[in-house]
Amino acid sequence: MSSSNAIGVFDSGLGGLTAVKEFLHVLPNEEIIYFGDTGRVPYGTKSRDTIKKYSIQDTDFLLSHNVKMIVAACGTVSSVAGKMLEEKLGVPYTGVVNPTVFTAVKETVNGKIGVIGTPATVNSHSYRDRINKLNPDLKVFEQPCPLFVSLVENGIIHRDDQITRLVVKRYLSGLKESGVDTLILGCTHFPLLRDAIQDFMGDSVKLIDSGYETAVYAAKVLAEKNLLNDGGSPKAPSFFVSDTPDGFESVAGLFLGRDMEHTVTQIDIEQY
Ligand code: DGL
Repeated sequence: MSSSNAIGVFDSGLGGLTAVKEFLHVLPNEEIIYFGDTGRVPYGTKSRDTIKKYSIQDTDFLLSHNVKMIVAACGTVSSVAGKMLEEKLGVPYTGVVNPTVFTAVKETVNGKIGVIGTPATVNSHSYRDRINKLNPDLKVFEQPCPLFVSLVENGIIHRDDQITRLVVKRYLSGLKESGVDTLILGCTHFPLLRDAIQDFMGDSVKLIDSGYETAVYAAKVLAEKNLLNDGGSPKAPSFFVSDTPDGFESVAGLFLGRDMEHTVTQIDIEQY
């Protein structure tokens, strides 16, 4: 395996781009190959078996590009299929749960941590169990927020949008009442709703987003394995999706702050 090979990052759709954005800052010398399974999003309302099957196809696609490391930039995949991928993939792997939990446990002052994610993530209790493994005294409050994924995939993310505000209030009222001082955005789609979530929860609640923490963790793993690319400027990131690139290009462009037109390629994920 050569250090000049790319890092493969995947998610069910757009959400993983929140991690890609951080990877481009934290690891500017690395080439990124991104796959968003837009034809089959959402994952978070599907069964464990389906999520595992999809994850294997997604990682097989990335491995066909000889990636040196794989990142599941998806709370759902990390929670449900993380262990399987770690054992099965022949390259270094990380999901988003562990790096995010470390930060949340460091940040909380009152010992009350909220976790929001997809139904599959919350039902797996992956974040709660990991938090309590590090510190059994911390109280964890979990809330599934399935509609957040649809809002993001459709670009309904503005803090002043009435629909966004209503859905945020509907899902987060209970967490606000429970007095959490730290809130884990346990789905990589959710940082796109960060402003609306912060407005509702108030400035005193710290929002923990997995993208940055995961990029820092990946940098550490690559350094340990002597796989950091120190050979000069990398190729531009490549983006692949399993449905038409049209909607993806405009929302992704907005988010990554670059013109994505004609840079996203559609692939047939069922053939992997
Ligand atoms: N971005 C994903 C996550 O982090 C998945 C959203 C979904 O497909 O339901 O959980």
